[in-house]
Amino acid sequence: MERGDSRALLARYRFCPWRERFHVALRCRMMNLWPLEIEVPREGRVADLGSGQGLVAVALAAAAPGREVAGIEREARKVEAARRAGEGLGNLSFRQGDLLALGEREGSLDAALLVDVLYLWPAEAKRRILANARRALRTGGLLLVHEVVTTPAWKYGVALLQEWVALNVLRTTTSREIHYATREENESLLRACGFEVETVPFHRGKPYAHCLFRCRKT
Ligand SMILES: C[S@@+](CC[C@H](N)C(=O)[O-])C[C@H]1O[C@@H](n2cnc3c(N)ncnc32)[C@H](O)[C@@H]1O
Repeated sequence: MERGDSRALLARYRFCPWRERFHVALRCRMMNLWPLEIEVPREGRVADLGSGQGLVAVALAAAAPGREVAGIEREARKVEAARRAGEGLGNLSFRQGDLLALGEREGSLDAALLVDVLYLWPAEAKRRILANARRALRTGGLLLVHEVVTTPAWKYGVALLQEWVALNVLRTTTSREIHYATREENESLLRACGFEVETVPFHRGKPYAHCLFRCRKT
């Protein structure tokens, strides 16, 4: 699969039932997946935390064989789908796990991603997930946090509506709560958790108000 080839990436999900295929295809179209892929170091151990059906992790592993990518996800059904989608990629693995009790070895990761995961949790749980991710990273390691923020307002409205449908109608995760935060609230949380933070608006050409928070463990 070539870097940037969303069609080949989505073809890996042909085996899924239509609801899951629809969900994965929508995610692929509505976020800047390949610009996100470029942000990740091309070598080293990378963890995709809350990897869902594995869309991001599969793209990362397929685009750079030098990355050793591990997806960690709490829902067994999604881990199974991710494993099937990633078949044939020797630098990719998935396991079932809870980010609130992340068992990764201290300092063992070069990079980690939290792609649209934190908003499912209230502030105290967000802090725990971030503390666990920080512990697992080596000093100088990169954490990429991709989250919807509250501006621009119309894109925030679209994201809220879509998310409500995903959680309550399509039931794409077991969560029913949405805890979106402003850009500034995310930044101060990440700094309070011990990261240096640089924020980039990440919604160009897309209808959701995504920001990318590039975080370094100092
Ligand atoms: C909106 S989905 C995003 C999935 C994936 N990151 C992506 O971009 O396609 C959020 C995922 O995070 C997972 N998740 C949320 N909290 C988690 C936790 N404490 N431990 C493991 N996975 C978690 C959910 O099960 C869900 O699959």
